[in-house]
Amino acid sequence: MTTLHFDEFLKRACPEQDLDWRKYRRASRRRVLERIAALGLTGYADYLDYLQSHPREAGELPNLLRVTVTRFFRDRDCWQELAKDILPRIMARKTTKTLQALSLGSCGGEEPYSLALVWAEYLQPRFPEHSLNITGLEMDPAGLARARQAVYRPGTLREVSEEIKARWFSRDKDTYRLDQSIKERVSFRQQDLLKDPLPADQDLILCRYLFFTYFKANRLLGASRRIRQALNQSGVLMIGLKEDLGPQAKTLFEPVSENGCFYAS
Ligand SMILES: C[S@@+](CC[C@H](N)C(=O)[O-])C[C@H]1O[C@@H](n2cnc3c(N)ncnc32)[C@H](O)[C@@H]1O
Repeated sequence: MTTLHFDEFLKRACPEQDLDWRKYRRASRRRVLERIAALGLTGYADYLDYLQSHPREAGELPNLLRVTVTRFFRDRDCWQELAKDILPRIMARKTTKTLQALSLGSCGGEEPYSLALVWAEYLQPRFPEHSLNITGLEMDPAGLARARQAVYRPGTLREVSEEIKARWFSRDKDTYRLDQSIKERVSFRQQDLLKDPLPADQDLILCRYLFFTYFKANRLLGASRRIRQALNQSGVLMIGLKEDLGPQAKTLFEPVSENGCFYAS
């Protein structure tokens, strides 16, 4: 029997599933080992064979490997651009006053709550007649539970300004509790983004450090098409600063910012 290391396992298993093997981390390794044990297999090589003969299991690989790292206002400059240029531009092009936004892979709520904070701080005072409905979609029940609790450790708030912290969080020893008025702006739903369709007619879709980091080739193209379909005519896609649409998905969207974070459908 050959003994494989986790990296070697990823190098062999990921390309077949259009996944970028270099992006996965230790937490993914733990989940794979748990799965191997649950199936009664003896190691990575065994599991590779199992994946070959069980297409449904192979289709679940991206979810098994998923990474759950996040924080408030990740890529801070992009949030400023969203507040100053992108959201006002979306509102100017709309005929109704209610906007819909999705956060795909909303994890513990840090990303959709960042959007709710941007809205409360910068947009609501300027556009009091408008409102924004935000939905966080996430498959992981632990992430959803953290999001609904909305109590955070300081590390995840390291890009949050002192003013916003003081205004919208209450401190209790080593944790920060998000204000109820911000919590109420976001609803969360359990959804497997690989399987379930996205809700339609969205003005803004945040898809950051998920599809455009981990997916490649046809898997990425398929996911990008689903995002495009869910955006309305004036809708905008926001991706991470360290991400790239990739050559195929680039044909589906038009850039609307120089930093490569915002795209129109
Ligand atoms: C790396 S985190 C990124 C979180 C956030 N978007 C950000 O940029 O900070 C990816 C999140 O997507 C979730 N996720 C991965 N695959 C998913 C799927 N198929 N359906 C729903 N959520 C998924 C993970 O559980 C995790 O919470």
